[in-house]
Amino acid sequence: MKITSDFLIIGSGIAGLSYALKVADHGSVSLITKRDIDITATQLAQGGIAAVSSTEDSFAAHAKDTMVAGANLPHPDVVDLVVEAGPKAVADLIDWGVNFSRNQNDEYDLTREGGHSHRRILHAKDATGREIERALVEAALKHPNITIYQHHIAIDLITEAKILKKPLDQNCCLGAYILDIKNDEVITFGARFTVLATGGAGKVYLYTCNPDVATGDGVAIGWRAGAAVANMEFMQFHPTTLFHPNAKSFLISEAVRGEGAILKRSDGYAFMPDYHKLKDLAPRDIVARAIDSEMKKHGDDCAFLDITHKGADYIKDRFPTIYQTCLDYGIDMTKEPIPVVPAAHYLCGGLQTNKQGETCIRNLFAIGEVACTGLHGANRLASNSLLEGVVFAKQAAECSLQRLGENHLPFPTIETWDCGSATCSDEEVVVAHNWDEIRRSMWNYVGIVRSNKRLHRALSRINMIQKEIDEYYWNFYITSDLIELRNITTVAKLIVQSALMRHESRGLHYTIDYPATDDINARHDTVIPGCQYD
Ligand code: SIN
Repeated sequence: MKITSDFLIIGSGIAGLSYALKVADHGSVSLITKRDIDITATQLAQGGIAAVSSTEDSFAAHAKDTMVAGANLPHPDVVDLVVEAGPKAVADLIDWGVNFSRNQNDEYDLTREGGHSHRRILHAKDATGREIERALVEAALKHPNITIYQHHIAIDLITEAKILKKPLDQNCCLGAYILDIKNDEVITFGARFTVLATGGAGKVYLYTCNPDVATGDGVAIGWRAGAAVANMEFMQFHPTTLFHPNAKSFLISEAVRGEGAILKRSDGYAFMPDYHKLKDLAPRDIVARAIDSEMKKHGDDCAFLDITHKGADYIKDRFPTIYQTCLDYGIDMTKEPIPVVPAAHYLCGGLQTNKQGETCIRNLFAIGEVACTGLHGANRLASNSLLEGVVFAKQAAECSLQRLGENHLPFPTIETWDCGSATCSDEEVVVAHNWDEIRRSMWNYVGIVRSNKRLHRALSRINMIQKEIDEYYWNFYITSDLIELRNITTVAKLIVQSALMRHESRGLHYTIDYPATDDINARHDTVIPGCQYD
């Protein structure tokens, strides 16, 4: 089966939906998503969206905070672009129906998080992402030009280099092969513009607060098709996820620290002043490393986040979701500190794009967490991610619409999927086993503190698993589990390769072999050129 549309969007979080809403009046949109439409990282975002919104704040201050958190690796021109587009991005969200929390004066309530010099984060209590996802999904469902395909997963992109044998430097994207998971059918989606908005790759690690869908699909399929990736070594570990055997790494928003919570050891000692002048509101890489180090030094299983001094009424009103979730696990955060540990949270690297969100493959855009736009550098400033998603959706939409006006060429003929001599597998345990091994190796060897020895150990295991998966991939019918495993393996390898290329410690990449930051030789992005289909 073949489906053709002007715009093919893969992913249904804030970036994909914003792009869809920006272009839908001008052409047909196919929006693909792996599970139900709202199973996204956006849906789980708690803190909020950073945008300069008060007279005490300024674009210069937001830009400076972004540069400092990013350990001076963000691209200043991209930082200025995003920060200055912040107020308009928030206005767009409000136009699409997002209700942000207001204070007693009926002004938008601004909260604070680590690394921010001012209160500038708009939020919807402690479930900002859920509110944004709700509003954007409702708006997309109402639009007659948007067709949503749930339970569909991208297998690979279709490019001119692949099907017309064009050289890589003239490569152009023509769509993607997509597996309809429920009907077990591969559909050929042709499109003038393809947008990867697939989110992050937290599932590459054993412990993550990302949803199960965060398997780095966009990075893997983009890279396989020839798009370059950058800064993959910078995986952000969120310092505070709930430590409980059944909690599956539930996030305790940084806004809890923003509103005064204090990190303590099991003996009650508040340790953050020993690590940074901003104490509990230091940038995330510093807080995560401090917790890791205190846990290791004192043999503790977790740290504790204490906000009991703020009073029960305030806590229940400001953090209703976190309060209720903790209570469900037997922890009353109004009376006792919350046990917390760091977990993989956000991939700062990804497919390298320009300021229009376009990869080095023409008409292939990457927006949101899947992309490396130059905004985050070595560590993302809290609540800059939702902002980047909306701003780059707009950039990419404007670029596509301008090109759409110029380009009325018919689509080239695209062949439908050929499954070759693949047969049914009776060994699905191989997929589950390899998935687990990758995630464990990444957690143990490519985590918060790294070394060359650990990275090489991870790489040799990943190489072995990759060989096995490739064999399996070509011999058996594909399933969504196999597609995701193939993708996390590719992404894991790109993370390790990038980490090995960075001979310094900076932001989220800390290695005992190069503990210092090297501004003379290493203040640049780590770029790995795309491969062209295996
Ligand atoms: C949080 O609420 O702590 C997450 C916000 C973010 O990752 O920007």
